[in-house]
Amino acid sequence: MDILLIAVMAANRIIGKNGIIPWHIPEELGFFKATTMGHPIIMGRKTFESLPDGPLPGRENIVITRNPDFAPPGAVVVPTLGHALEHCAGQSRVFIIGGAQVFREALPLATGIILSVLDQAVDGDTFFPAFDPHTFQETTQERFTGSLPFTVTTYRRVRPDLHPPPP
Ligand SMILES: NC(=O)c1ccc[n+]([C@@H]2O[C@H](COP(=O)([O-])OP(=O)(O)OC[C@H]3O[C@@H](n4cnc5c(N)ncnc54)[C@H](OP(=O)(O)O)[C@@H]3O)[C@@H](O)[C@H]2O)c1
Repeated sequence: MDILLIAVMAANRIIGKNGIIPWHIPEELGFFKATTMGHPIIMGRKTFESLPDGPLPGRENIVITRNPDFAPPGAVVVPTLGHALEHCAGQSRVFIIGGAQVFREALPLATGIILSVLDQAVDGDTFFPAFDPHTFQETTQERFTGSLPFTVTTYRRVRPDLHPPPP
């Protein structure tokens, strides 16, 4: 199963501010929607609660939380990332859509990363984790222009993780 991290970050690696994404780029949202449509999406509880219209349609929304009472309609709730991936067994690909906590935890398991990077830096409090360029090698790039230009780079894992998380 392909485990793909998908994120949009500013030039200074910011992905969030005060619980939301601090920009609005319709072209990037369109790219995210087209890429993830029909596939399960795995996210942290804070990211799920940041979605303005609730669960994202056309995709199974899987939310990780330690809160056993969290039961929002339209989402599958699991206690760990491992449970989320187990739930997706048999799928060809799953997307890890954030936020920072979940990206950090999923990075050692990721088979690839789809990363949109804005040309400009943005003020914020949440960052996309650094990753090893020897582990993830760039495969494609696509440029989007508009009011806030960005570039989407796709990375594939080229070697196993050297420091897998403890079981
Ligand atoms: N630019 C982007 O691409 C992008 C994408 C997604 C999100 N964001 C932004 O990122 C920010 C949110 O990121 P974040 O790092 O603060 O939060 P997050 O990763 O979305 O959610 C964190 C929560 O997930 C649960 N969780 C995480 N790891 C867990 C584990 N190992 N076991 C059980 N539960 C676990 C916990 O929920 P409980 O506290 O309920 O236990 C934790 O508080 C927001 O600003 C959001 O807008 C940006």
